Amino acid sequence: MPETERTFVMVKPDGVQRGLISEILERFENRGLKIVGAKFMQMDRELAEQHYAEHEGKPFYEGLVDFITSGPVFAMVLDGQDATRQVRRMMGDTDPAEAAPGTIRGDYGLDLGRNVIHGSDHEDEGANEREIDLFFDEDELVEWDKIDGSWLY
Ligand code: TYD
Ligand code: MG
Repeated sequence: MPETERTFVMVKPDGVQRGLISEILERFENRGLKIVGAKFMQMDRELAEQHYAEHEGKPFYEGLVDFITSGPVFAMVLDGQDATRQVRRMMGDTDPAEAAPGTIRGDYGLDLGRNVIHGSDHEDEGANEREIDLFFDEDELVEWDKIDGSWLY
């Protein structure tokens, strides 16, 4: 079996309000990423501030915390080969106006503040594990194997 890793992904409040959870999830499932955790939840300010701590003090920070706590989010943990980087590639650039068509942000977004999805940054070492720990308890993650094995993808 090839080496896999876990990454943290979240459909943001704009994606939830627009009914995009299933379309986004479908892309990841079709790609061969395995869901090991999922949670529909309302983030409180404390969690939002922890999650976006790296951006504290930046001009967009307050608006970002307001936005991410403005409604429910769909948080998930995906497992797969090179999962963190591959999810980021599928998401596209941070600014939907620059994100390539075919990416999630490039297909569903226009505005930088409303970019539909979050995924752990593969260039930030350990961000995936930190974010998974922040949002999920160990007993909320499911260890399972796809019965078809690794040759399918
Ligand atoms: P960042 O971590 O840089 O982007 P990404 O989500 O691709 O990892 O920024 C976090 C979020 O902050 C981003 O998804 C949208 C918002 N944001 C702004 O509103 N304005 C900005 O100038 C930047 C850089 C980000
Ligand atoms: Mg980021």
